[in-house]
Amino acid sequence: MAEKISVNDGILNVPDDAIIPFIEGDGIGADITPPSLKVLDAALAKAYNGAKKITWLEVPAGEKAERETGEFLPDSTLEAFRDYVVGIKGPLMTPVGKGMRSLNVQLRQKLDLFTCLRPVRWFEGVPSPVKHPEKVNMHIFRENTEDIYAGIEFMSGTPEADKIKKFLMDEMGVTQIRFPESSSIGIKPVSEEGSKRLIRAAIRHAIKHQLPSVTLVHKGNIMKFTEGAFMRWGYEVALEDEFAGQTFSWMQYQDIAAEQGKDAANSAMASAKAAGKVIVKDVIADAFLQETLLHPEEYSVIATLNLNGDYVSDQLAATVGGIGISPGANINYNSGYAIFEATHGTAPAIIGTGKANPTSLILSGAMLLEYLDYTEAANLIYAAIEKAVSKGYVTADLHSQMEGATLRSTEQFAQDLIDNL
Ligand code: NAI
Repeated sequence: MAEKISVNDGILNVPDDAIIPFIEGDGIGADITPPSLKVLDAALAKAYNGAKKITWLEVPAGEKAERETGEFLPDSTLEAFRDYVVGIKGPLMTPVGKGMRSLNVQLRQKLDLFTCLRPVRWFEGVPSPVKHPEKVNMHIFRENTEDIYAGIEFMSGTPEADKIKKFLMDEMGVTQIRFPESSSIGIKPVSEEGSKRLIRAAIRHAIKHQLPSVTLVHKGNIMKFTEGAFMRWGYEVALEDEFAGQTFSWMQYQDIAAEQGKDAANSAMASAKAAGKVIVKDVIADAFLQETLLHPEEYSVIATLNLNGDYVSDQLAATVGGIGISPGANINYNSGYAIFEATHGTAPAIIGTGKANPTSLILSGAMLLEYLDYTEAANLIYAAIEKAVSKGYVTADLHSQMEGATLRSTEQFAQDLIDNL
């Protein structure tokens, strides 16, 4: 009988037949979601011979929900994601200029899904703008709840903006607002708690998956007390008891270099690497964007703030073939709540044409399977995608960039994957 996943202290208890809510999504959601779920079902069946399965439960959101219930995000949908702990969603459109907050942001905030996790890897055969996409294999942990993205901003000319500017200048002695009369104002909250929980999750992920490093990406040279503090807190986390003997940080390297010289520090770093410790280091955000093009093999797990994470995720996704095939998840690693999602939008121009590529959602589903510890099923999906793409069996978006490829519709591509499992 299908049952709910339960969670105790962040640890999931997954029944053999778990109920998982899904949002079909707007636009191409109807094209990609049903075939994607079929691929996940087939991978589970192949890996576990019926011993483990998922019962999908559709919950309304977006335009479909608006038509049926009059609301874009009914309370019952939020409740379902809370109640069933883990869910998956297709793309949702955000009406522009209607003062409506993005449904995606609402879901993330209501469930406090503090990590936006984006694995970025290349599948052989996928067209890429870089020479060596095979060197890109990163896991981006983007902080999802704070930073300038918290939505605390006030338009120039409003009483709120005027009040804040008056407070800053009259009471705080701020003189750096270049054009005080006409400035809009935004606030950038970055907390110790929020930063540390994100970085802790990133280091745990590196240890669990035996990944070589965690890089803290920040702009602390300019924003010392927000981004700089993020970096400092990150190095503190690396030294927490939980990670004793499992990490070695750039800060430790520098301490050894200062006390015993560079040779001793280099040798400590070399032994840490040889012992399989996770190296915790940091890079300034602008340099990081350059580094990921020049030396992508130097980076593995990335922990970064919300805005940097947004840029970094899309730039890296582009190096391995674009956001159409990049998966994502929003996770609260402390409570266990998680929503896996296609990272692209609703692609209005190709709705119903069979051109939509379901790979982003299928890979997000594979991440969901890994999250439930169904690693064998997830690996079957990765191999099936690799096989299809390396043979040139692809949807229109990739077909147009690959010579000699065979054009497959959304449904045909999903069926190819099932056949490849
Ligand atoms: P988009 O991602 O929908 O489209 C950008 C381009 O990529 C278009 O050329 C589109 O045809 C193509 N594309 C996207 N997904 C594809 C797929 N799976 N297969 C093949 N081609 C694909 O971004 P856009 O046009 O900026 O946004 C459209 C709507 O989607 C907006 O309402 C926006 O708010 C929403 N959106 C929702 C997201 C989410 O739910 N996570 C993320 C991004 C946008």
